[in-house]
Amino acid sequence: MSDQNILVESKNRIAYVTINRPDKLNALNAVTKVELREAFEAIADNPEISVVILTGIGEKSFVAGTDIKELADLDAKTGKVLAEGGQAVFSLIENLGKPVIAAVNGFALGGGCELALACHVRIASENAKFGQPEVNLGIIPGYGGTQRLTRLVGKAKATEMILTGDFIDAQEAYRIGLVNRVVPLPELIKTAEEMAQKISSKSQVAIRLSLTAINAADEVSLSEGLEREATLFGKSCETADAKEGIAAFLEKRKPNFTNK
Ligand code: COA
Repeated sequence: MSDQNILVESKNRIAYVTINRPDKLNALNAVTKVELREAFEAIADNPEISVVILTGIGEKSFVAGTDIKELADLDAKTGKVLAEGGQAVFSLIENLGKPVIAAVNGFALGGGCELALACHVRIASENAKFGQPEVNLGIIPGYGGTQRLTRLVGKAKATEMILTGDFIDAQEAYRIGLVNRVVPLPELIKTAEEMAQKISSKSQVAIRLSLTAINAADEVSLSEGLEREATLFGKSCETADAKEGIAAFLEKRKPNFTNK
């Protein structure tokens, strides 16, 4: 895999995926999206990785959107193909089966905000700015923004952000539930790492089943979601990790999960 626009490192069961186009504020051009997909496909297949931390290089931008240069000559058909391509990469992240923590280190605009929305947890640095400024270009969000932002922060706030194109700062993003935490920029990766380490110390089967159940909440009715939860709960009960976790509690010792 080319590592030109996406850098991937791994340490202690954590994969660090960094978008690396600093001169374009990490805007997502076609090559970057392909590399992003390849990086997450490899992580999905890698049993040594439990959690992913996704960030942008530098101190100014997570991702400043889709590369606007590549939007210039689209029509209804090619525009739809572009949106579907971006949506597919972001859905791959959302359905990875492993938690992805977005460490939002600056601008998260347009496709950048949508990328953060596809992650399971968002931790923002104090300088982060979120926005869906597509209307300023005469277009609308195409990588899931109208859907995931609305589900996450509610229709009123999502509508305001999408129709005005205004940016909101990290504190406002926290206030409306768009991000889980806000920390000073120098503490961003450390904070994400602490959460990643905590998650990777759990049973990874239970983590995967939890993510599957949580993702269903956006897709199905409450009654169907509860049904799916019960089925997934049942699956979790027959895992080796459930036997170990429950036995460890009863024997007053730490569990030794084997992720099976
Ligand atoms: N696509 C392509 N290039 C982008 C980009 C994007 N989404 N966002 C930033 N860049 C490029 C700029 O064109 C500039 O490139 P250049 O030096 O070759 O001219 C470089 O990144 C630095 O950006 P610049 O605008 O000079 O930085 P700034 O600090 O003055 O402004 C922003 C930062 C984020 C406010 C501004 O770049 C911006 O509005 N970007 C577009 C955001 C957007 O609309 N995203 C949604 C796209 S659908």
